[in-house]
Amino acid sequence: MKALVGPDTHSSDGDGHGSEESGLCVKKMTDCQEGEGAKTPMELYERLSVQGDKVRSLKTAKAEKAEIDSAIQLLLKLKTDYKQVTGQDYKAGCPPSENMNVSDNGPAADGTGDEDSVDPWNVSTTNAKGVDYDKLIVRFGSTKIEKDLVDRIEKVSGQKPHRFLRRGIFFSHRDMHQVLDAYEKNKSFYLYTGRGPSSEAMHVGHLIPFIFTKWLQDVFDIPLVIQMTDDEKYLWKDLTLEECHRFTLENAKDIIACGFDVNKTFIFSDLEYMGASPEFYRNVVKIQKHVTFNQVKGIFGFTDSDCIGKICFPAIQAAPSFSNSFPQIFGGRKDVQCLIPCAIDQDPYFRMTRDVAPRIGYPKPALLHSTFFPALQGAQTKMSASDVNSSIFLTDTPKQIKNKINKHAFSGGKDTVEEHRKYGGNPEVDVSFMYLTFFLEDDEQLEKIRQDYSSGAILTGELKKILIETLQPMIAQHQERRKQVNEEIVKQFMTPRPLNFNL
Ligand code: TRP
Repeated sequence: MKALVGPDTHSSDGDGHGSEESGLCVKKMTDCQEGEGAKTPMELYERLSVQGDKVRSLKTAKAEKAEIDSAIQLLLKLKTDYKQVTGQDYKAGCPPSENMNVSDNGPAADGTGDEDSVDPWNVSTTNAKGVDYDKLIVRFGSTKIEKDLVDRIEKVSGQKPHRFLRRGIFFSHRDMHQVLDAYEKNKSFYLYTGRGPSSEAMHVGHLIPFIFTKWLQDVFDIPLVIQMTDDEKYLWKDLTLEECHRFTLENAKDIIACGFDVNKTFIFSDLEYMGASPEFYRNVVKIQKHVTFNQVKGIFGFTDSDCIGKICFPAIQAAPSFSNSFPQIFGGRKDVQCLIPCAIDQDPYFRMTRDVAPRIGYPKPALLHSTFFPALQGAQTKMSASDVNSSIFLTDTPKQIKNKINKHAFSGGKDTVEEHRKYGGNPEVDVSFMYLTFFLEDDEQLEKIRQDYSSGAILTGELKKILIETLQPMIAQHQERRKQVNEEIVKQFMTPRPLNFNL
């Protein structure tokens, strides 16, 4: 299943009277041309409006039949093109929405022939350095996190930016400046992130969004909701409802072990909370009413043979972006701004969410996107929880960590020591080095390792040793903290209740 990666360009405001948003979007759209000669949905939409007006005025003026006919022919052709490009029927007064399919199904249509494919279910690339994230920003229509934003986060929070920000691991965003503008005027926000509990086993890559979210919670002192999509995993995988729910409770322990503040954090299972909260379900239904099958087909690539549960699911992942889904936390307020830290593959859900938000009277959630955590075998793929050798699991022993890294971590080193000393290694494709960029806190030490590895001063074995010695204590400490998380604590986090914060 592939997502169609339309940029975050247009948002129709329902009544179709060119909102501020669409003005902004026209500019954005010209920033992201998809390929030679290709028409963007907005260009086509505008041509269609003009042509529609022309047909009408010819008719009013009782022009020659031949002239009217040829104008109609052109109108029909434009309509066909529009449908082909957007997957939707042209409707006068309704500009194309932000989540449409503007290019093709998956790979970048920029004529360079590379094969990056990124959606909520699959990530693949043929490049050893991993996915080309700059291109992804253009295709998704998000904004790169530049140094000025990192500096601003530092200024507003008063804290040194997290290493994930300093090193471009969180690399893309939507509306983060707006969140900071409001925060500076004492208007707070809340965090929303989530996890699809597909097995008991979580690996270090799964922790990336949670480690970062914990940091955001601490530095901004704000509430957090964490969605456990056990319903999603039931719909997509060959698992029973009971298994999915059990994985929710097990994974919640690993999430809690990241150090979240129980007074500011609500973790919920969809299978429980959907039935317990009328307000949440009302938002799900509102979203469902405002997204068509054509739109989700366009965004997620659903086909006629996908079960209807999958087709409705995006509304369930969208609902926590709106504060009145949690009346026990926000007291019925629907205007509290939401910020979603997530891996970039989740963006299709939130393009859809941002598109419907204004149409149902809610603020659009802001986003911070991370890159993927590479598999031990190389940055071409995301890790798989079903392949034990593809990553370091949170349950691995020090010995397993050592063996996995020594045996499986893809090396950017040369074949022989002589060659390596002479030509140096390539940290850009070396998985041990990549893992260190995620987990080694000290910037200077990391830079020194990069230089020494590139020059050949340190060998792959030595680099691996540094990684092993970084991960072993980190995982051991996680296991220690997780042991402290008993059923009672899980229950506390998962009970709907007021949280402690000032908005
Ligand atoms: N769909 C996500 C997964 O499979 C889980 C999820 C739900 C999520 N809501 C989210 C992830 C919000 C990030 C942000 O892992």
